[in-house]
Amino acid sequence: MTSRLKKVELHCHLEGAAPPALSLAQARKYNIDVSEYLKDGTYVWHDFASFLECYDKISEVYKSAEDYALLTETYLAELADVGSIYSELIVSPDHGKRIGLGADAYIEGVCEGIRRAREASGIEARLIVTGERHFGPDSVVGAAEYAAKAQNPLITGFNLAGEERMGRVADYARAFDIARDIGLGLTIHAGEVCGAFSVADALDVVRPARIGHGVRAIEDSALVSRLADLGTVLEVCPGSNIALKVFPDFASHPLRKLKEAGVRVTISSDDPPFFHTSLKREYDLAASAFGFSDAEIDQLTRTGIEAAFVDEETRQALLARI
Ligand code: HPA
Ligand code: ZN
Repeated sequence: MTSRLKKVELHCHLEGAAPPALSLAQARKYNIDVSEYLKDGTYVWHDFASFLECYDKISEVYKSAEDYALLTETYLAELADVGSIYSELIVSPDHGKRIGLGADAYIEGVCEGIRRAREASGIEARLIVTGERHFGPDSVVGAAEYAAKAQNPLITGFNLAGEERMGRVADYARAFDIARDIGLGLTIHAGEVCGAFSVADALDVVRPARIGHGVRAIEDSALVSRLADLGTVLEVCPGSNIALKVFPDFASHPLRKLKEAGVRVTISSDDPPFFHTSLKREYDLAASAFGFSDAEIDQLTRTGIEAAFVDEETRQALLARI
């Protein structure tokens, strides 16, 4: 349906994009038992906490820099195949450390995957380093310090993900100060598992250019107006929200209401195979479930490019392709 439309994605967790077949092959290669988390070609979880556990376990079957190059190249090739021209991947150097690979080798593998995909299809990509709340504020500060030290031109953003119910944004403020000081674009997961207060917290404490999800801002009309006034861009992931039961169905999902209230919105797939979705499906849903015209969908894409964490030359080149 949306095959001929150009696409961009601002919110996708790299390990969350791992095709189940690839994860299974990796598990076999390293003789790791993932049968509890991957059954019949499907990732197994039942709520947000068990999703995070499943995500962390599956991430452990990617162990070497080459594994990360392959994972990155595979996902970006899939995106390019459906007309995507730009992708921001959320990556966790801390995860590289935890699995014993090291943050540098982890990031180097991912960057190699980006180079291979760009060469094959022309797709542009950048990296958003993330801290995960459930590993604690020190690990989040460590992620920001890594990003500052790495001085890698493909690392252009900083995010806070993980268990949203753990701590308040203020507990992680220092990490955002470090990231802001080195000029990274800032975005925060908020208003997904937790209510509107978490979006207000993010604005009060960090004032990021973008918010991951943010959709539960709809519970507070003054907050919706504040987002519209500030021009904060929401990285909306409808398929993820329905899979995690943030809203019961697409009819009650607030994407259209937020857009009509003047909030700048974009669409992404979050952790696509975990949530039985893909960027292509999210674009198709924009039409079939939300009733957006092709011109309106192009506007979502344009907003994504305007809000992308890239240099101006790349931004203009991308905008020229829509
Ligand atoms: N949400 C929050 N934290 C995460 C996710 C997600 O979808 N994937 C990996 N960490
Ligand atoms: Zn996310």
